[in-house]
Amino acid sequence: MIPGKILVTGGCGYIGGHTIVDLINNGFDVISVDDLSRGSLRMLDGVEQILGREIKNYKVDLTNPDDTQAIFIENPDIVGIIHFAAYKSVGESVGDPLSYYRNNINSLVNILQCANDYQVPNIVFSSSCSVYGNAAELPVKETTPLQPAESPYAYTKQVGEVICRDFARGKSGFGISLLRYFNPVGAHPSALIGELQDKPENLVPMITQTAIGKRSSMNVFGNDYDTRDGSCVRDYIHVMDIANAHTKSLQYLMAGKNRESVEVFNLGSGEGVTVLELISAFERVSGRKLNFQIGPRRAGDVVAVYADNQKARKQLGWSPAYGLDQMMETAWKWEQKLQLDEQMHLN
Ligand code: WQD
Repeated sequence: MIPGKILVTGGCGYIGGHTIVDLINNGFDVISVDDLSRGSLRMLDGVEQILGREIKNYKVDLTNPDDTQAIFIENPDIVGIIHFAAYKSVGESVGDPLSYYRNNINSLVNILQCANDYQVPNIVFSSSCSVYGNAAELPVKETTPLQPAESPYAYTKQVGEVICRDFARGKSGFGISLLRYFNPVGAHPSALIGELQDKPENLVPMITQTAIGKRSSMNVFGNDYDTRDGSCVRDYIHVMDIANAHTKSLQYLMAGKNRESVEVFNLGSGEGVTVLELISAFERVSGRKLNFQIGPRRAGDVVAVYADNQKARKQLGWSPAYGLDQMMETAWKWEQKLQLDEQMHLN
């Protein structure tokens, strides 16, 4: 066991929960803080079933500085923080920007204040490929210039990165990794944890809910873009690969290899896949024909974005292990498990 604890904020969320599994499997000790406004204890139950051990969660609103500080007073052996806790719906952020700025920025500021006051030197910040906007070049590199954010959500990630940089500037001994996720999809192979989205906005839960009959059909938002088949291009990456990148980021920071105080890493597969190609992969893997129609474009969608992931491969020793078929297999297995649980609950 590696000495000290890792504090995972948003540990009851989709990526937080999967990351806790990978951290524990790699010898870290972990505590979670999640106010359960978006995360759920069902995620924690699944994590505990996979690991065969309990994970403590502090049900704390991180926008409250005193309650946040209390966690660090109670746990003086925190040696690293992975900060996932944030609202992340692009559409919701357009409709309610102030709740996004209040929640996503205030919680980050409180966490960094505690890292400063309690000398926690290793910090990983959950950022997003949405900071690139309609990128000027493809595949996007960490040095690709950022475009104006397309939504308040994306702006909170751009501002979050600036806050991390300003915090670390001039501080010796602190190391911060900014991890820019592309499109995290899929679920842990056990199907004990996965993405819980009642009213999904994202493509993959929309596909699996349509395929299982929760929805009668779904829309492909436009097939008249300048791409291979007219539908948008994204970089889909399995959530367990995203999780492992966090473990490797911490190992990198704790080994003191972080020559700069702040480093940015793209977390994507490096492969651009269109919406229609992803649907075909799902149909092939599930054996189900998906009921979809071509609808109008969705406001705010970028035409294409996918990652150059060489920096994370070289510096973190990270490499994605799951391919597109496994992303679809695990997402489908998770949706089927959800249906089974609902049927058991009803019986
Ligand atoms: C993917 C593609 C849609 C639903 C998300 C998050 C963002 C960031 C990256 C974390 C688009 C199309 C979707 C549907 C469709 N993640 N689509 N029909 O927009 O790339 O961004 O991942 O930081 O926060 O929002 O993901 O899954 O919503 O869309 O055709 O019913 O699928 O138009 O081209 P997106 P998405």
